[in-house]
Amino acid sequence: MRILIIGSGGREHALSWAISDSPLVEALFITPGSPGTDRLAEAVALDIADHTQIISFCSDQQIDLVVIGPEAPLVDGLVDSLDAANIASFGPSAAAAQLEGSKEFARDFNQRHAIPQPRWQSFDNAEDAVEFARALGGASVIKADGLAAGKGVIVCDDLAQAEQAIRSLLGGRFAEASARIVVEERLHGIEMSAFALLDGKTAIWLASAQDHKRAFDNDEGENTGGMGAISPSPLETDALISQIMTSVIMPVCEGMKAENMPYKGVLYVGLMLTDDGPKVIEYNCRFGDPEAQVIIPRMMTDLVSAMMTLYEGGLGHFNLRLSTSTAITVVMASKGYPGAYEKGSRISNIGLAEQTGCIVFHAGTAQDDTGQLMASGGRVLAVTAIDENPKIARQTAYQGVAAIDWAEGFYRTDIAAKALGLDDS
Ligand code: AMP
Ligand code: GLY
Repeated sequence: MRILIIGSGGREHALSWAISDSPLVEALFITPGSPGTDRLAEAVALDIADHTQIISFCSDQQIDLVVIGPEAPLVDGLVDSLDAANIASFGPSAAAAQLEGSKEFARDFNQRHAIPQPRWQSFDNAEDAVEFARALGGASVIKADGLAAGKGVIVCDDLAQAEQAIRSLLGGRFAEASARIVVEERLHGIEMSAFALLDGKTAIWLASAQDHKRAFDNDEGENTGGMGAISPSPLETDALISQIMTSVIMPVCEGMKAENMPYKGVLYVGLMLTDDGPKVIEYNCRFGDPEAQVIIPRMMTDLVSAMMTLYEGGLGHFNLRLSTSTAITVVMASKGYPGAYEKGSRISNIGLAEQTGCIVFHAGTAQDDTGQLMASGGRVLAVTAIDENPKIARQTAYQGVAAIDWAEGFYRTDIAAKALGLDDS
């Protein structure tokens, strides 16, 4: 098969890593790709927003499958354009991707299908929104309706914070994306991410993971795209998986089909495990980043055959196998991230980290003319290790991180510590 991957982050490096290893693959392209994917796939320069250009590349190169990593092209309808051109792809249609693209759509959908979630309402008027936040007792979560690069959610402790958040979002902080907002009850519990594959008719469980969203140790600092992850989540049990499948994932699959927007692709559900059971915090219509860097290395079934089976609607008969090992990834980010940071600092010794048994996924790197690796983004590397013994996986990941020579980078030292009962706080 001839495959094109879309994206450039750590998640797309993990996708390239698994796809390039598939015996089904004869040629692999990626756009735009990264120095990390250079050994695995041929980088091509395409404008992802230009669907005609992508379709003509696929026709010229006889591409059999397009794998779309990030949410923006999904929400933008790239899958619909490829469908119309008879090109197979991995990811939901624009209609189905609304589960991520509009928080109001997702909350309404859950309500129609009795999927457990916090109390909520949507608003375009600040006074009414503040009134509802007051009715919730002040502690609330204020969310931009549309995509805001992971920055559109403000968790508030009291009414004063809620009011400030409401006025800032409705005041145009994310332009169109925050012209409407959702105000919701603040849930308490432990967070878990659940991943399932859906082929429009059937859903199968893929994996659980736990992300670490805050920038610094002990969950201090600002929210980021994710500073590290562990899979499976240490909270995962067979009973919990079956509860999540029954109360959330199957109802999503059936509800989307009943509403004529069958969901095809990977569904990523952010859950809060509350005293009343799991409740939906959010949906994403793609793999998580850095969750992909811990889930994909655990896959024992060929990823390409899973994607093709999903495309053809055959997941009901598919045997997806995951390793029982634990994978842990530690993200190395540019000092200053998620705020302003410098680009262009030198990174060396990736090879040494690989020798410790880690897989080093590139999330934001570039190369200069001499081939020297440099930081070119906020999140720069994700260092993954996998082992039957979670503590060894963690130790190995941190040995890999320590081997990397990058003075301008930082990382959390407590990834998976709480999960493994290693923190003494
Ligand atoms: P999101 O971008 O929707 O994943 O939200 C970012 C983070 O905000 C989540 O990972 C949670 O930690 C937190 N969050 C979002 N919604 C809620 C909620 N209703 N209750 C408590 N925390 C929430
Ligand atoms: N790690 C969070 C996300 O991918 O949305």
